[in-house]
Amino acid sequence: MSAQGTKQTVGQPFGLDTAQGRALDEMVETLLAQMTLEEKIGQMNQVAGSRDTTGAPANTDIEDDVRQGRVGSVFNAFGVEFTRELQTQAVAHSRLGIPLLFGYDIIHGFKTIFPIPLAQAASWHLEGIERAARVMAREGAASGVHWTFAPMVDVARDPRWGRVMEGAGEDTHLTSQIARAQVRGIQGRAPGATDTLAACVKHYAAYGAVEAGREYNTVDLSEWRLRSIYLPPFLAALEEGCASVMTAFNTLNAIPATCHPLLLDQILRREWGFKGMVVTDYTAIMELERHGVAEDALEASRKAVNAGVDMDMQSGYFIKTLEELVRCGAVEEARIDEAVRRILWLKAALGLFEDPYRYADDEREAECLLSDAHRRAAREQATESMVLLKNEGNVLPLSDQHKKIALIGPLGNTPRLIGSWHGNGDHDDTVTLRDGIAQRLGNGATIMCADGVSNQIGDTDTSGIEAALELVRQADAVILALGEDEAFADEAASRTDIGLPGMQLELARRVLEAAGDTPVATVLFNGRPLTLTELDGMAPAILEAWWPGTEAGNAVADVLFGDVTPAGKLPMSFPRHVGQIPVYYNAFNTGRPKGVDPKYASKYLDSPNDSLYPFGFGLSYTTFEYSALKASCSEIGMNDTLEVSLTVTNTGKRQGIEVVQLYLQDVSASVVRPVRELKDFRRIELAPGACAHVRFHITPEMRSFLNAELETVQEPGRFHVQIGGDSTQGKPLEFHVTPHCA
Ligand code: GLC
Repeated sequence: MSAQGTKQTVGQPFGLDTAQGRALDEMVETLLAQMTLEEKIGQMNQVAGSRDTTGAPANTDIEDDVRQGRVGSVFNAFGVEFTRELQTQAVAHSRLGIPLLFGYDIIHGFKTIFPIPLAQAASWHLEGIERAARVMAREGAASGVHWTFAPMVDVARDPRWGRVMEGAGEDTHLTSQIARAQVRGIQGRAPGATDTLAACVKHYAAYGAVEAGREYNTVDLSEWRLRSIYLPPFLAALEEGCASVMTAFNTLNAIPATCHPLLLDQILRREWGFKGMVVTDYTAIMELERHGVAEDALEASRKAVNAGVDMDMQSGYFIKTLEELVRCGAVEEARIDEAVRRILWLKAALGLFEDPYRYADDEREAECLLSDAHRRAAREQATESMVLLKNEGNVLPLSDQHKKIALIGPLGNTPRLIGSWHGNGDHDDTVTLRDGIAQRLGNGATIMCADGVSNQIGDTDTSGIEAALELVRQADAVILALGEDEAFADEAASRTDIGLPGMQLELARRVLEAAGDTPVATVLFNGRPLTLTELDGMAPAILEAWWPGTEAGNAVADVLFGDVTPAGKLPMSFPRHVGQIPVYYNAFNTGRPKGVDPKYASKYLDSPNDSLYPFGFGLSYTTFEYSALKASCSEIGMNDTLEVSLTVTNTGKRQGIEVVQLYLQDVSASVVRPVRELKDFRRIELAPGACAHVRFHITPEMRSFLNAELETVQEPGRFHVQIGGDSTQGKPLEFHVTPHCA
């Protein structure tokens, strides 16, 4: 079937059935018929709620526009009082009393902050990810928010880009599965329930492919790669009922995503059948002028609205120009009506016409924000997200009998562990690593802290190292707490050198030398894959903790002292050197793969090809054995599903969780296929000595791909299945698909 003929698989936003959707349509049509052109255009205008220098809600300078019906949505507006006050201006003082839609970036927590999304992806725990999204939606809704600009589903293979922290890493399948879980968690099952939010999948599309990992940079992809790698997570989110889409800042093949007919009309509407609303990213319509596709605001607005944008975030161009564009015939009023229908439909689906104040609730806000239950959920997910990268000599878990702990490094005693995009989260609520260790070990232990060096980029000061070494010499265990500052992996935070910032590596070297036989555990707090080759060469134990959120210190202590066995698996490859980027597991073999010739092969003179830590990798405090792999048969027809099964045994002395990963290779096809692709996974818990019989089913859909004509096809031929604990494991099991049914 051709891509253009792709069957329309996206239903109503929120998964509403047709009858429910139609009931909303009727209400919207009645209201639309009463609206003037100016009022319609006002609905397409989204502005930021202003705040004073402390960030507290202030009397906004937008209230006058709201009363005049010139604002449809306000973002960065939250808090019961602030949202109620603004809503009153719209509902009680504008001519038609159309309620405002309040949007906010609730990405990995509202007040209780969960691990950053890249860390959550490392848990591979879809139920846990859904629960985290549920909690953040419940908290945001209680504070008057209706709509969150999440999930962010930008597949990314370049860790120089700071926003890798906000997505689910390099793999399309894992990102798609996580997108579905996040939409389910955010929107819940009952649309408009006051503990849910409308979701907004972003950034449409391919923002994660910015050239050189440089923020906001150019994106240029074949349509084959766009549709095969970057678009499926958006479709997954929309199939799960995601209510809206946000356009990306970047160009895609020389056309800005914010006025891209292929993306916004052909694929989103004609192929996928999406019926919800499209909002731009912040001032993206104005930026069409800077991109060089619009002479002025009129042309920028015309191109964006005619391409399919429904709401203008913060550029103010729609409110300024659309009336003139309609009057002169450059924009059909029917296009305005279509956009306004989608916006009003969303407000109606959220129940805002029945009760515009139904979300903001003092009691709910007091009861649920930072509740013990939410903190427990955040702590649990943080422990599930951590990835044990190295554990030579089983340094970890540390004994909880240690009496003198030296906690060395710039992240040992800081609350800056909730990451970027932390919503209304507060560092003051964060459990530091020092506090977490102190709470875990109790009064019997002494914790001696020293930063040693800073984690600021470019800081060369090493004057604090000697004092740190003094503590190391007194300790019976050392914990090195290293990593990035929250500001270094974020929007507008790309890095050309993704090593440990400042002189942290020197600190690690000196501490490890001084420690002698004293156990040293290194904990990393960072928002992206780092180049850790030197650290890996000298540190015996390395735990990747990412930015774990409000309960950071407790969660890390849970894992460091063995109360929780690490189970995380990397959602993104860690390069050996920044010069390898992009390095990702599901690459093509090339015509001269490494090894075919000592010289003439696809390789470097100065580095291995593979990543230091591969996609899907993560150690445990126990060990697992894979055995008895077999397939239901070795030859199947095109429409058949192949069952493969195996046994996974916990061969260690501790309970553990293993993420069993199934990879597939189509060995020879009409287009080149990756050496392997993740198609399914199981997260299983096993007691020491226990084993599980794991089954997978390889369906025709899993074997399908886009051919050179961009058609989704399955082709007969040889396939390899590899099942293991990461993307480098698993003995290939071969099976054949024949053109005829077996
Ligand atoms: C930002 C981000 C986008 C966010 C929006 C509103 O620039 O690109 O992800 O939702 O503006 O804050």
